[in-house]
Parts: sequence; C-alpha cells; structure tokens
Amino acid sequence: MVFEEMNQNNILFKRDRDTILFDDVNLRNIETKFGTPTYLFSADQIRRNIRYLREKMLEYNPQTSIAYSMKNNIIPEICSIIADEVNYFETTSILEQKIIEKIILEKKKNIHIVSTNIYKPDELIEDVIKYPIISSSENDLENCHSFLAIDSYQDLKNIEKVAKRLGVKPKVLIRVNPGIKMDIEETIFASANVTAKCAVVISNIEPIIKASNDPTIKIWLPERQFKPEFDTAERLVKEAYESESLDLVGLHCHLGSQITNIEYFDRFFEVVTRFFKTMNEEINDKLKILDLGGGYPVDYAHCECVPTIEDISKSLSKNIKNSGINPDIIIESGRFITANSGILLSKITITKENSDGRKIAVLDLSIYSDLLDVLTAQWSYDYSLINDLPDTDQKATWKLVGGTNDTLDQITPRMIKCSNCKEQIIEKKEITFLRDLVIGDLIAVKSAGAYTTCFNSNYCGRIKPLIVIKDSMSEQQILRTR
Ligand SMILES: Cc1ncc(COP(=O)(O)O)c(C=O)c1O
Repeated sequence: MVFEEMNQNNILFKRDRDTILFDDVNLRNIETKFGTPTYLFSADQIRRNIRYLREKMLEYNPQTSIAYSMKNNIIPEICSIIADEVNYFETTSILEQKIIEKIILEKKKNIHIVSTNIYKPDELIEDVIKYPIISSSENDLENCHSFLAIDSYQDLKNIEKVAKRLGVKPKVLIRVNPGIKMDIEETIFASANVTAKCAVVISNIEPIIKASNDPTIKIWLPERQFKPEFDTAERLVKEAYESESLDLVGLHCHLGSQITNIEYFDRFFEVVTRFFKTMNEEINDKLKILDLGGGYPVDYAHCECVPTIEDISKSLSKNIKNSGINPDIIIESGRFITANSGILLSKITITKENSDGRKIAVLDLSIYSDLLDVLTAQWSYDYSLINDLPDTDQKATWKLVGGTNDTLDQITPRMIKCSNCKEQIIEKKEITFLRDLVIGDLIAVKSAGAYTTCFNSNYCGRIKPLIVIKDSMSEQQILRTR
C-alpha cells in the first residue's frame, strides 16, 4: 500500500453514478436495511490508520509502540479489530478493562494496559494491578503488563495503599504536565499548559532552559507563578522512586486532543524529553518508558495546515536525540485511529423556510446524542449529500438542524478551527450542496468515528443510532451493534 497517497478524508468515498459509496457500500442500502441515523464504520480504514501511524512513527523512532486510547470509541467490535493491530490499550475505567479482558480471552493474545484516569477508585486500582494475572494468555505473566499513570500526590498515596494491601508492586508512570504555553482559544483540548487539570506540573524549569540550545524555549515555558508543595512532577518521581510499594518505570504525558499546531508538539517533546533526562540523572536511570499520550490530529476541515504524522514523528526523533535519551515510546492515539473510519448517515425529515430567508433542513439525528462535539467543542464536520446527485453543479445553501426542539441542536458548523490559518477562521451558518434538498435525502456526516458513539444518549427519549461495521476480513461482512 502506498501510504503517501492516503488522503485522510476522502479515500473511502467514491461516486457511483448518482450516488456516493462509502468503502464500496451503497448507503441507500444501509438506509433500507438499518434505517437512519446509523453510524457506518470501515474496519479496513481502522487498520490502515493504525498501520500508517505505526509505520510513520517507527520510521523515525524505532522503539515505538502504538496504544489505542479507548475512551473515544469503546464499541467492543471496533476494539476487537484494533486489538489485532496493537499491543497496548489506554484505559480509564473497569468497564474498558473488561472489554479488553474479553477480547484477550477470545484472541489468546496479550495486551498491555495503561490506566490513566485523574481519579482511580480503589476497585479500579485493584483491577489494574490484578489485570496481568487475570488477563495474560496462558499465564504468560512476563509478557502481559499493566501500568498506572499517577496523576497527583493523592493518587500516588491511594495506589500505594491498594498495592500494600495486595502485596504486589505495580508498575507506575508519573503523569507529567510540561506546562508549556498553549492558546486555549485555538486548542480547546489543551492538556499540557500550566493550568490544565490533569497531571503534575514540572515546577523547576531552569534545568530544561539551561539544557536547551534554543533561546526561544523561554517563551514557551512560562515562569511558574505558584509552586505546589506536593503536586509537582519532581516530587512524585522521587516519591515513587523511593516507595517500597511502587515500581517506577517511566513518565506519562499528554499534549491534548486534535492538536493542529506542530510547534506545540515540538515544544512538548522538547520539554518532556529533557525532563526525562534530568530526572533519570537523579534516580539512577530508573525511567525506561516515555508515554506521550494522544492528540495526533485529523484533517476534519480539509485544511492543509494540519501536521502530518511524519512531521510529528520527525520532531519527536529530533528532540529525543537532542536530549540524549533512549526510552521505549508509547503513542496513545484515539481520534486518529477511528475518526475517518466512520460516518453518520442521516435523513432529512422536514424542510422549512425561516423569516430571514434561510432554508432549514431538519435531520433525524440530534447533536446532543450523536455528534456532541459540535456543541461542546464547536466541531466542524464535513456534510455530504449522497443520493440523486445531479450531473451539473447547481449549488444550494441550507442550514442543517437536529431533530429535537432544542435551539442548540444545530449541526451546521459555526467555525473552522485551525491554529495555523487563524486569520481565516470563518463563521459558517450554512452548507452548500450540489442541489436543493428534499425530504428523504440522505446526508453523510464524514469523519464521525471518534468521540461520537461514546456520547450516545436517550436525550428526548430518542433511540440510540445503530452501528454497522463493514469488515472485508469478516465472513459476515456487515456486523451490527447498538
Ligand atoms: C491521557 C490521554 N491519552 C490519549 C488520549 C487520546 O487523545 P486523541 O483521541 O486525541 O488521540 C486522551 C484524550 O484526551 C488522553 O486524555
């Protein structure tokens, strides 16, 4: 496969006469068989995404493992497809772990887990610690690992307490916040700026500034206004190193989700790799693993500014070399693996005109349940008419809304978010289609595979959409779940 030719958004869409196919599936047939709204996933695209991510990361960083960050999409059939391709899953709950345990039993394959939640109840900690014993295929304990990413001083103390009770020394990573300068306006999911809620901040930035050969690092590493007594990265690394109940093996960090500014990646990698080196000098090279979290971006809005995995991988490799470290790297990707592998198919139920002359099409989906990020993150998806396409481009502009009474239930994008072409951020109230819309038309919401199904709810008493998976490797071809 020629990965370079991969167009993240459109590879799966083909026009066939007056209709559009998704992964060779005629969406009219999906409507007839399953109704709408329905999510349709391509298992092959999930596999392609993982292989592409791995290939590009390994090209510049040979010691990299890919983990699947489960929270964005925990459909068991999707996790099972992913489990054939990766050896690590990032988890945040017992339910997620149970899904993996079941998959492991079926596949007889060891999968390691990294448990990261900001709060881990005792039962969760216990479940993570016991995970290798319960889950390792044929008691192959040496090759099945679980890691707890410690998020705060109290989290460390809770983990120590449970570990002591169980008499097992769990492998732990300290979740470090590099505290870099991130513009929250442009990067709403920023997790690596000083004010972020997760992780413990690197409080002493002097050694990093001193070690860097780039004077502009100072701009990216703001002075700490306040230095916590307990919740600092330095303190937790030392506490875990000295603890008789914990086995400190590495650091964990996470830049944020859908980060489209390559400079953020570059500075993030620089700070965490230099911190890794500084700490290891103090604790006899105890840190072996550097888990870099997720955030690898998807080109939702056809914006050429979105950095490629290759750009990100090169930046990581450069920073690892500059810092003189040699860790095992874990990449915890969610969105990049699933987003463009799924669409949401919806039908127009009502068309209306409103008093400002706009044409409104009411869809049978609701963003509260089916596309929540449109509300919470002002997300821009790409919407396509897929049936009865005209030969000529006639162009008609419509406002799309969800099918509940709620005013905020409008799926039309309000702005295009991209850090690099900030000036071009545009207010978009309507979407242009190839022809006028009519009742019964089908609209595909593209790249709707991540952070969508996991938010499905019964808002307004609605039934959750069906989920259909096309898998060329499965005898059944199309699986169905809800
Ligand atoms: C700790 C951690 N790792 C990985 C991810 C996955 O991020 P993404 O889906 O953007 O790759 C998240 C998501 O917020 C996260 O919090």
